[in-house]
Amino acid sequence: MITIDGGWLHLKNGALSCLLRVNQWGLLEQAHFGAPVETADGAALACRPGLGWGGSLLLDDSDTASCPDVLALAWSGSGRGDLRESPLELGSATDFRVTDTRVLHGDALMTCGLPQARGAEATLQVTMAQPGAELTLYFALFDTAITRRTVLKNTGNAPITLHKLMSFCMDVPGEFEMSTFDGGWITEAARHTVPVSRSRVVNESLTGFSSNRHNPGFLLSEPGATEDAGRVYGCNLVYSGNHYAAAQRSLQNLTRVMQGISPANFSLTLTPGETFETPEAVLCYSGEGLNGLSDQMHRFISGHIIPPYWRGRARPVVYNSWEGCMFDFTQARLLDLARRAKKLGCELFVLDDGWFAGRDGDTAGLGDYTVNRKKLPQGLTGLSQKISELGLAFGLWFEPESVNENSALYRAHPDWALTDGFPPVLGRHQLLLDLTKPAVRDYIVENVSHILDSANIRYVKWDMNRHSVAQGAKAHAYILGLYDVLRRIFGPRPEILLESCSSGGNRFDPGMLCFSPQIWCSDNTDPIARLSIQGGLSYLYPQSTFGAHVSAAPHAQTLRQTPLATRANVAFFGCLGYELDLRQLLPVEQQEIAAQIAFYKQHRALFQFGRFRRLENGWQVSLDGNFAAGVFHTLAGAAPGYERLRLVGPNKSGRYAVRTRAQALRIGQFGALVKHVAPVPLDPNGVVLRTADRHFLLPDAQEEYHVSGAALVSGILLAPMFRGTGYDKAQRTQADFGSNLYIIEEEPG
Ligand code: DGJ
Repeated sequence: MITIDGGWLHLKNGALSCLLRVNQWGLLEQAHFGAPVETADGAALACRPGLGWGGSLLLDDSDTASCPDVLALAWSGSGRGDLRESPLELGSATDFRVTDTRVLHGDALMTCGLPQARGAEATLQVTMAQPGAELTLYFALFDTAITRRTVLKNTGNAPITLHKLMSFCMDVPGEFEMSTFDGGWITEAARHTVPVSRSRVVNESLTGFSSNRHNPGFLLSEPGATEDAGRVYGCNLVYSGNHYAAAQRSLQNLTRVMQGISPANFSLTLTPGETFETPEAVLCYSGEGLNGLSDQMHRFISGHIIPPYWRGRARPVVYNSWEGCMFDFTQARLLDLARRAKKLGCELFVLDDGWFAGRDGDTAGLGDYTVNRKKLPQGLTGLSQKISELGLAFGLWFEPESVNENSALYRAHPDWALTDGFPPVLGRHQLLLDLTKPAVRDYIVENVSHILDSANIRYVKWDMNRHSVAQGAKAHAYILGLYDVLRRIFGPRPEILLESCSSGGNRFDPGMLCFSPQIWCSDNTDPIARLSIQGGLSYLYPQSTFGAHVSAAPHAQTLRQTPLATRANVAFFGCLGYELDLRQLLPVEQQEIAAQIAFYKQHRALFQFGRFRRLENGWQVSLDGNFAAGVFHTLAGAAPGYERLRLVGPNKSGRYAVRTRAQALRIGQFGALVKHVAPVPLDPNGVVLRTADRHFLLPDAQEEYHVSGAALVSGILLAPMFRGTGYDKAQRTQADFGSNLYIIEEEPG
């Protein structure tokens, strides 16, 4: 509910309160942002500046409370007393004062083409003005979050030059640590945490996109907060371009936090009457630790960002051709793979890169959309028909924003490439198309739409594989162009499942999620690397947004050899797929994968849409009283101690059945050690063991416990792990990178 009462402006839902007031100088004070409170608490929560702060600037020289520098504010100017970082830069002092406040029913819709969250209960609109300019701050109230955005209007007669306009700015009392999610190609979203103190802490992307360097989402947690306890704020930006967020603690112990488009090289002229709208920022709060905060964020993304058609809709099990084939395929090879994928239980066959003319490697062909008839003599129509006849849906890869110099498109329209006035710099041998040009956008929309309508395409992987040269306002205009293209192609085709990708997770943000319900997290599918990548993303995004595939071992990016069971156990916590050459699978691996897919289908809703939590030794999901938990190990230690499975959330007085997902051991992994169990001497490299390894598996521990919810909350001890004393099917025989998955079901009565 949003109320305006006795000078207090109060946005309140079950999770948080955002309490504001317009003070006597027309400044917008942030009296409170955090746990739900009563409006009447405002006076006790707001700052009371006391007798003054030395040489600080006062708006009214006779009143020490008029010192903007020491107030907790929800917006601020520059040069007029607030000496902290300003959310607005116009090249001169700014001094906006509140002129109007009102509550709008539902969403307040944007007009500039940026995507935004939908389904707000109500929106608070605060208007502020200074001579020649007006600012409108929007605070939209959702069930688990609020969003904020800002609109600047030139109301004067002269042009205004805008250098910086944040989506929000707010001061909250207390000390915090800032967690950001950073990395690069194949090492996305690693969590880093630093204290927010007197120096400014910044999370920013300058690549032209939201980037794998620094995800726009970040957390502010009180020191000592854990996964399940403590106060935590979460912020994110519904935007896919250069972003900026800063946090800094003042002398008065107020932490100023702001987020918006990166001001780096940003300069935009607003002519009289013109407006500029910022992207929407998302703000969540939880008093129940990082897991509590993640849950608020997940529910917001699932309920208000994901395109309506795909909210809560089951995602198919994918087979993707990329890692298995790269550019090297024919229709016959694809159909062979599709037949095998179907047999294993996959539901959707995705033809990745390499299907159009000239695209036999990554140096040519981007920009052209003519099917390579040498590889696909019956075109996409013929191939998709044959795939459908096999009982699989068909999906297709595109990289529409890019162009190779070696392409028909570039030869015809070299001026369509995005340039910066310098000789071109290539990334993965390619340039970006200039999406700020209407003709370029029309070309992409027409060509992609034509292909989508020419065959039975149920899924699109929209890839983009380089950083941009565009700076500041041009980079922003590019992102608006991208949203225009996505809206025009997929708006009329909502049932196509769009998976966004950018060299993996180089554009994993709420802006892209407004169009694509899932995003390819990383080209790194090594499960141990994915613990950090999916684990990092899990702080901000629900697992239904994670493209998560099982691939071959040793892994292409890490050379790590991992058990097939662990590859699946990690990928289960996302939208499962397989991405490897199925022709190379041994009979035992086929058997294992078929069982994995059957298991995932049985528990699909739990894995894709259950409530996710990070545990001390793994992850859990829960839905309708049932749980799944993954326990993951990295390097095996000698004589490992007991291990506990400790869940969060079971009904303490309920009864639960805990069962392992059946896993099996490859005989070959024991090498010469088989001598300890074999009745006759066997050569570890000989034909007998090699044959046995292809066809037979050894059972691993099948655990089953019937316990109370209270025991699960306290932690039950799992079967002992291998400790150098031989094979025993009652023990968990795990070497490096082992894992187990448990299904925990509530038992009746
Ligand atoms: C980068 C993506 O991340 C990969 O999954 C694959 O689609 C390649 N591009 C294709 O070129």
